[in-house]
Amino acid sequence: MRHLRWLAVVVFAGCMQRETRDDETKAERDQHESFNDQALKGAGLYTANCAKCHGVLGEGTKKAPRVVDMDKGALSLNPPAEAKKRTMQFVTVADVAKFVVANMPADDAGKLSEDDYFRILAFDLKANGAKVGNEHLDMARAANLVIPREGDQLKGEERPSTSMR
Ligand code: HEC
Repeated sequence: MRHLRWLAVVVFAGCMQRETRDDETKAERDQHESFNDQALKGAGLYTANCAKCHGVLGEGTKKAPRVVDMDKGALSLNPPAEAKKRTMQFVTVADVAKFVVANMPADDAGKLSEDDYFRILAFDLKANGAKVGNEHLDMARAANLVIPREGDQLKGEERPSTSMR
């Protein structure tokens, strides 16, 4: 009887462990983070690491270009006229990611983990109204996400496919 009780405790503990996924590494957990969860964390990371130059709402400041509101020129295809660091086009989200990982924050480039950069990018995409579903965003997925441009059919699901643009 005593043995049985111990067995029950051990089995129960085993279940609990699986329930809380203690066996999962942090890296694995980060990979399972949904796009919306990434964006949620990205908001705080943006405020802490990017807002002082790019503005609280991503509207840009004297120090740095806007990163929110593509209708007003954010994340333009070609580098802005005053750009010094950016020489490449932003065609896919991965192009932006590579630039940001290598160059931002401008006063301490590369200070964040790649996971955190992608959280900020998820937040930025959301703030720009991009409709990209809820699948985890990483470099591989970003390479397949073409940044919608005026006249593109990709501007989001709300644009009717019969648009005359
Ligand atoms: C110290 C100021 C500063 C901080 C902090 C900063 N940036 Fe920048 N950022 C700049 C400047 C300046 C540029 C223009 C670079 C150039 O010469 O092309 C820029 C450019 C960019 C661009 C490209 C914009 C475009 O249209 O060419 C993106 C995207 C960007 N930053 C994202 C971020 C993110 C994300 C963070 C936070 C992790 C961040 N930045 C933090 C100053 C800053």
